Amino acid sequence: MTDKANTTRRSFVQNTAAGSAALFAAGMSTFRAVHAQDSQTKPMRVGLVGCGGRGSGAVANAVSSTDNVKLVAMADLAKDRLDGAAAGIQTSIGAAFDVKPDARFHGVEAYKQVCSHPDVDYVIHTTPPGLRHITLREAVENGKHSFVEKPVCVDSHSYRHVLESGEMAKAKGLAIVTGTQYRRENSYKAAIEQIHNGLIGELVGAYAYYCTGSLWLRGQQADWEKWGGFDGMEYQMRNWLYFAWLSGDHIAEQAIHNIDAINWGFDSNPISAYGSGGRISRNQPQYGDIYDHFSLDYDYPGGARVSFKCRQIAGAAARVTNRFIGTKGTMDIRPNPGRSASVAKNHKGERIWNHNGRPQSGNNQPYVEEHRALIESIRNGTPIMEIQGVADSSLTCIIGREAAYSGQEITFEQAQKGMLKLSPDDITADSYKVRPVPVPGEYKFS
Ligand SMILES: NC(=O)c1ccc[n+]([C@@H]2O[C@H](COP(=O)([O-])OP(=O)(O)OC[C@H]3O[C@@H](n4cnc5c(N)ncnc54)[C@H](O)[C@@H]3O)[C@@H](O)[C@H]2O)c1
Repeated sequence: MTDKANTTRRSFVQNTAAGSAALFAAGMSTFRAVHAQDSQTKPMRVGLVGCGGRGSGAVANAVSSTDNVKLVAMADLAKDRLDGAAAGIQTSIGAAFDVKPDARFHGVEAYKQVCSHPDVDYVIHTTPPGLRHITLREAVENGKHSFVEKPVCVDSHSYRHVLESGEMAKAKGLAIVTGTQYRRENSYKAAIEQIHNGLIGELVGAYAYYCTGSLWLRGQQADWEKWGGFDGMEYQMRNWLYFAWLSGDHIAEQAIHNIDAINWGFDSNPISAYGSGGRISRNQPQYGDIYDHFSLDYDYPGGARVSFKCRQIAGAAARVTNRFIGTKGTMDIRPNPGRSASVAKNHKGERIWNHNGRPQSGNNQPYVEEHRALIESIRNGTPIMEIQGVADSSLTCIIGREAAYSGQEITFEQAQKGMLKLSPDDITADSYKVRPVPVPGEYKFS
């Protein structure tokens, strides 16, 4: 006999006012427990838009984050990417792959079919960033929750657009979680908490670096010709990293992680950016219109200044770290997915705190935590909304990029209100347009 059946029978035999009250209370608590359990195990059906490396990884992260998560729909611009990802994801998640042949879409408007699919509860957005605002709006309009990879905008237009979508989502009770994973990493969180608790005093500055080697370039000469040449839609779509309208340039596409951590540490957006950049090693036409290095100063409220560098040059020394400087000491944070190492020192150079970066592995790693948090918030009826922070961090990257491109100091407020629009209103074959490489002094921020 179940507990529920026992409770019901006992209450019936007592048949007193007190017994009835007890029955009601017991019944309600059983009802609540069953209801909560139902919502905890309610299937969570995922739709994937942008079936590349991160999209495939994010699906596996979502499935391993909690019970009863499955992939039910997929979309990509290219059929070969869709088919390749479907085979790979099926191998990695097994029975959680439940994408029927009629829920696999490709083409320019394929994202619309996943975002409006009746079986989808939440959409994973992993197309190139320049399209993020378009797919997010489609998901919100169709009442879907979202996981959006970083960056979420590439210009002033898409910044305002994603914030508007955030407001629409809030009004509809929809969740939006973002892919700035340091924010879900225990060791990174511990270091930032120490800063916020005053361990190194008042922050007066910081150094931030995202210097790496070169990244992937898809295809070779024969493929490039087949893909329409360097200004062809297919070429740009496949090698989107190298086109500012699609990636935001590497300062936004990759270095956003360390820029976001600076905003997090300061608990503020910067006031302005000033600096320079250019392309020295990646200056062939296959590398589109982006730079390969930036060196910038960001000014923060209270007179603090942050020196920031990022570089993607093969053979040059890598450095991906952040150093915060306070009135009482410094905090160095060396990120490493799930195991960032941090050390704080006073101004005599003595260690005052450190965190060894204990591994956050398996289904606890930050990429998994993002989905666990999102799903729990949906199931609990308390949807997480974190678009503002990641939009602000994306815009922080954008003002740095625009300062370097134009050779001018660019303020955060100028960019919030600006006319800059690299991104399209809608995705069409004509959206894919290359711009000339910006030359400081000639290029103008608007
Ligand atoms: N958080 C992290 O650590 C991390 C790591 C890698 C990538 N990312 C982010 O994830 C996103 C995707 O990166 P990726 O490495 O998976 O790239 P990718 O090139 O492997 O995948 C992108 C996919 O989007 C598809 N696509 C392009 N245009 C499309 C359109 N109009 N409609 C539908 N699909 C379209 C491409 O064909 C491709 O399959 C980027 O925003 C990137 O910055 C985040």
